[in-house]
Amino acid sequence: MNRVTKSGSFVSIVLAFLLAAGTLHAGLDAEPQDIEKALQNAFDTYKDLQQGANADYIPALAKVDPNLFGIALITVDGRLYTAGDVKSEVSIQSISKVFTMARVIQDSGPAAIESNMGVDATGQVFNSIVAVEQYQGSEMNAMVNPGAITATSMVQGENRDARWGNIISTYSAFAGRELTVLEDVYQSEAATNQRNQAIAMLMYAYGHIKGDPLEATDIYTRQCSVGVNATDLAAMAATLANGGTNPVTGTKVIDADRVPPILAVMATAGLYDDSGKWLYATGLPAKSGVGGGILAVSPGKFGIAVISPPLDAAGNSVRAQKAITDISNALGGNPYAYRPQ
Ligand code: DON
Repeated sequence: MNRVTKSGSFVSIVLAFLLAAGTLHAGLDAEPQDIEKALQNAFDTYKDLQQGANADYIPALAKVDPNLFGIALITVDGRLYTAGDVKSEVSIQSISKVFTMARVIQDSGPAAIESNMGVDATGQVFNSIVAVEQYQGSEMNAMVNPGAITATSMVQGENRDARWGNIISTYSAFAGRELTVLEDVYQSEAATNQRNQAIAMLMYAYGHIKGDPLEATDIYTRQCSVGVNATDLAAMAATLANGGTNPVTGTKVIDADRVPPILAVMATAGLYDDSGKWLYATGLPAKSGVGGGILAVSPGKFGIAVISPPLDAAGNSVRAQKAITDISNALGGNPYAYRPQ
C-alpha cells in the first residue's frame, strides 16, 4: 500500500512537472509534436482527395472554393494546433444547431428540449417532413431542421432583435471572438428556404413552436449564415470539451452540467442519418454543416474542427470526416476506448 502511494505520488510529481513544462496536456496523453504530426499527416493524406460536391440547394454554397481545407484542434488547456487554411470563413450552417440548443438548455433546462422536440434520432434526412409527420413533431431532436427551428423559437428575448442578439453573443462566446453573418449566404438561403418555412408551419400546427413560425425560420436562416473559420469551430468544440468554459478566453459560457445532454444529442444525431457510422468509427459527439465544416468533441481532452466544402450523400464533409477520424484515433480521443495499464 505504502509503495503504491509512494510511486503514485512520484508519478503525480513527474506528471505535474511535465504539464508545467508544457510537454504534456491535461487530459490528453499526447506530446505536442505528436499532435502536430497527426494534424499534418491528415492534411497531407487528404488534401488532394477529390470526392463529394459542394451543397448547391443554397446557391451561395456552390460558389465556395472546394479546395479550402483547414484543420484546427484546441486542447482543454487552451493550446491551438493547426494545418492548412484555418483563416478563411464558411457559413456555420447546421453546426449552429448545437449552440442554439446550448442557449436554450442553459436558460430553460434540458427538460424543455426533451419535452418540446425530443432527443431521439429520426434516421431520416435533416429536413425530413416525414419525420415530423410520424410523431406529430415529437420524438426527434434539435440537430434536424424541425427541432432546430423549434429550438430557435425557444430562445429568450423581449423582441426579435433581443433574441437574435442572444444567439450571436452565445456563438461568439463559444468561439472567443465576435462572429458576424455572411450576408450573401443569408440572402441566398432566405430566398430559397420555402421547405424550412413549411417545416416551421407544421411544428407550429403541432404546438411545438409557440411564437411566429416564420420569424423563427428567418432567425434560424440567419444563424446558419454566421461566418466561421476552422479555429472558431475548434474553439466552440473545445468549450464543450472543457465543460462549458472556453479554454482560450477563460469565459464560462454555459454550466458544466448542461454539457452532457448536448453531447448526447450530437452523438446520436450530429451527422444525420450517418451518425451511427460516425460514432462507430470515432466515438466522438460531433456536428456537421452543409457549409463544409465538422466539429467534434473529446470530453476532457480537446475540440477539433475541419472545414472542407465537398459533401457526401448524407450532407457531411468528406475530407472532414476522414481527417477527424484519423487525428482523434491517433491521439486517443475516443471516449469509449479505455486501455487498461
Ligand atoms: O436549413 C438548412 O437546410 C441549412 N441552413 C442547414 C442544413 C445543414 O447544414 C445540414 N447539414 N449537414
